[in-house]
Amino acid sequence: MSNDLDFPCNFVIFGATGNLATKKLIPALYRLEAAKRLPDSMNFIAFGRRDWDNVAWRDHVTTLLREKLQDKCDDALCAKFVERFSYLRGELQDVEAYHRLKDELGKPRMGVCSNVVFYLAVKPTDFTGVIKNLDQSGLSQPRGLHRVVVEKPFGEDIESAQALNKLLHQHFDEEQIFRIDHYLGKDTVQNLLVFRFANTLIEPLWNRNFIDHVQITVAETMGIENRADYYDKAGAMRDMLQNHLMQLLTVVAMEPPPVLEADALRDEKVKVLRSIRPISKRSVHAHAFRAQYTQGTLGGEVVQGYQSEPGVEPNSLTETFIAAKFYVDNWRWRGVPFYLRTGKRMAEAKSMVAIRFRHPPQQLFRTTPQEVISPNWIVLSIQPEESMHMEVHVKQPGLDMDTRVVSLDAGYRQEGEAQLDAYETLLLDVIGGDRTLFIRFDEVEWAWRVVDPILKSWAQERDFIHTYPAGIWGPREANRLFDSEDQEWRNYL
Ligand code: BG6
Repeated sequence: MSNDLDFPCNFVIFGATGNLATKKLIPALYRLEAAKRLPDSMNFIAFGRRDWDNVAWRDHVTTLLREKLQDKCDDALCAKFVERFSYLRGELQDVEAYHRLKDELGKPRMGVCSNVVFYLAVKPTDFTGVIKNLDQSGLSQPRGLHRVVVEKPFGEDIESAQALNKLLHQHFDEEQIFRIDHYLGKDTVQNLLVFRFANTLIEPLWNRNFIDHVQITVAETMGIENRADYYDKAGAMRDMLQNHLMQLLTVVAMEPPPVLEADALRDEKVKVLRSIRPISKRSVHAHAFRAQYTQGTLGGEVVQGYQSEPGVEPNSLTETFIAAKFYVDNWRWRGVPFYLRTGKRMAEAKSMVAIRFRHPPQQLFRTTPQEVISPNWIVLSIQPEESMHMEVHVKQPGLDMDTRVVSLDAGYRQEGEAQLDAYETLLLDVIGGDRTLFIRFDEVEWAWRVVDPILKSWAQERDFIHTYPAGIWGPREANRLFDSEDQEWRNYL
């Protein structure tokens, strides 16, 4: 860790006072400090709009860490951590501020090495301006040296994603670009790979011969948390489905890569995205459903509707819930629907992949009290529970030939094992230069290709959106996506 040539020493956070930096990046960096995984020579520059100096910024970080981590925040360690920071006040669109950033990076306290991570924790509409200003101030030079981390969504449709990628490539090599999707940094998502490819038990079943359908749910109870300026333009499709849920789909559906290396893994994910059946304009309604939350009750409290959230446009049609159905038209999956669903202000915060198997080919127990045997499920819970459940039928003890379902449950973390946040893993990978868990541009491009027809069709339907009261599992109308009457959303583990 002390080799300054291998590891970037300086780390600039654009958007340092924003939601992402506050909620995820700074706590994750602190935890890396606590785990002694930050290079000693590493310094941070927080680039933000607020009129603060170093002292005010360090106080802000100390307060937010104490609030977030409570007794896990060690005062001495926190003091050491905040000392690594300096604050630079500037507007993202003002090239002058980047010249000042360059001066700051040249100061003796920033150390002798010159490689820098630029983390763009900013709104997608600001990406282009930041990249251009990095170039104009000379901060992208010398080419090949620095790393740039771009948050999702990468573009707002396929054309803008291509334009953004082109711009990035004008100033940075692909090896320098880290397109982040933090779901890939989650332990439970990486566990999907292990579950599938380290257990011979599973592989023979993992295909259209045995699986009826797949459900991927990412349900949140929170609303948009003062992010209307971003969210009202993005909506659930661009914020969650095009990236996080699509990535989950690729991990569930991909073929085993020849080796566990960045490109081999990403090649397999791209093959899945390329195999997704294109959605024609006429079939959008059969494949996608959108809705928006209205006032409702969550955890016993009344919460306001989306249109009353501060900053949301009056009569906004932005979706806060989306359900979609995709088919992966390849040898393994043809005919198996993948149902994806995500929403804000839903009944519970729960993310899971639920695999429903087919009915047994013969209903042998038809004449018993248990007339129809329900199909098996495997449910892989991503958060907040970190567990795997496999449902099987057993005979109920007694005189009758009756059956019941038992769940084989495996908690995945053992007592005392630390819970990592996805950003800890990913930030360490950025520092170490490992791009395995980052997104290659063709993945982004193909994911846009899949969802673009839906977005285009919605953009033309400008007078109506379904609604659901906050605190439920989404509107019933979303059930229209199901292929058969015995399919329904699974809301529990
Ligand atoms: C972000 C979205 O990418 O992911 C947020 O912008 C969402 O809207 C968040 O709340 C969910 O992440 P996690 O890790 O809490 O599931």
